[in-house]
Amino acid sequence: MGYNNHLNPPLLRGDLSEVSHAPVLVEETLSALSCRKDVEATYLDCTVGMGGHTEAILKVTDPNVRVIGIDRDRDALSIAKQRLIPFQDRVTLCHGSLKALLEIAKGLGLFEVSGILFDLGISSMQLSSAKRGFSFQILGPLDMRMDPSLPITAATLINTLREKELADMIYQYGEEQRSRKIAAFIVRHREEKGEITQTTQLADIICRAVRQKSKWTRTHPATKTFQALRIAVNDELGELEAGLSHAVSLLAVGGRLVVISFHSLEDRPVKNRFRELCHVGAPHAAPSVKKFINLYKKPIIATREEVAKNLRARSAKLRALERVA
Ligand SMILES: C[S@@+](CC[C@H](N)C(=O)[O-])C[C@H]1O[C@@H](n2cnc3c(N)ncnc32)[C@H](O)[C@@H]1O
Repeated sequence: MGYNNHLNPPLLRGDLSEVSHAPVLVEETLSALSCRKDVEATYLDCTVGMGGHTEAILKVTDPNVRVIGIDRDRDALSIAKQRLIPFQDRVTLCHGSLKALLEIAKGLGLFEVSGILFDLGISSMQLSSAKRGFSFQILGPLDMRMDPSLPITAATLINTLREKELADMIYQYGEEQRSRKIAAFIVRHREEKGEITQTTQLADIICRAVRQKSKWTRTHPATKTFQALRIAVNDELGELEAGLSHAVSLLAVGGRLVVISFHSLEDRPVKNRFRELCHVGAPHAAPSVKKFINLYKKPIIATREEVAKNLRARSAKLRALERVA
C-alpha cells in the first residue's frame, strides 16, 4: 500500500473488532461517483475514516482504479490501512485535511481526478473513544480535536471564551436557541467551581441550564452545544469551504464530486456552492471555463431499511456534481 510522505500509520491490530463504523449510503455513493468496472480512474476519498467507502469503491472497480484516502485523524488512517490490506497496491493513504487537498493532490502528481468523496463529520470510532472527548455520554477530557495536533481543544474554548462569545458560538455552530442560558451557566460554573474539563461535567451543566433531566426524549440537551464545540475546534465550516473549492478545481471533465453531510450547517454551503457552480449564465459559465451540472435536484437520503440498520444514516444527505466541460 502506498503511504504518503510523513505518514506511516501503525497497523492497529485487533482494533477493527472493537471499533466499527458502518458507512452510509454506500450504493448511492458508488452510483453518484459512477464507479464501474472497465473504467480507469483515480478517486479521492477525502474523509477516508475507517475505509468503508474506499473499500466499496475498490471492490466494484477494476484493478487499474486507485483511491487516494485522506483523513486528518491518524488513528482512523491506521484502521483504514488494516482494512484495506487486500487492496494495498491500489490505495495511497495521506494524513491531511480538506484545506490541504490541493497540496496533497499536487504532491502526488495528481492534477485531475475522476471522482471525489467527502463523507463529513466524525466516525463512530471517534465518537465512541472516551479520550477523544466527542461524546456527552462518555466520560472523557473535553478535547474534540479530529487531529490531536490542532492547537485548541473544546476545554480551551469552554474555559477561556467570554460569555457572549460562548453564546454566539453555541448559537452559530449549534443553532441552539438556548445558547445564552447555557453560556451563562457555563461561566457561572467557571467562576464558582473552576475549570470545566470533562465531557459529562459539561453535559450536566447544560442539562441544568435548560432545566431538562439528562434523560432525554429525542435529542439530548447537550447535542447542539457539543456540535458547536466540535465545529469550532476543527474549523469544520472553513475546512468544508476550502475543500469544495479545491475539489472543484481537481475534477476532470466527466468527474464527479459527492458530498455526504449530516446537518444543515454542513449541507447548506454544499447546496449553495453547487447551485452557484451549476448556474447557467454565471460568470464561470463563459465558453472557456469549466461547466458543472447538479446530478440530483434533491439530496439523496437513506432508505428506511438502511436507517433501521444504521441510525447515523437518518440525517445523511448526499449531493453530487459533475463537471461536464
Ligand atoms: C464520517 S467519517 C468517514 C467514514 C468513512 N467514509 C468510512 O466509510 O469509514 C468522517 C471522517 O472524516 C474525517 N474528517 C472530517 N473532517 C475532515 C477534514 N476537514 N479533513 C480531513 N478529514 C476530515 C474524520 O476524521 C473522520 O475520520
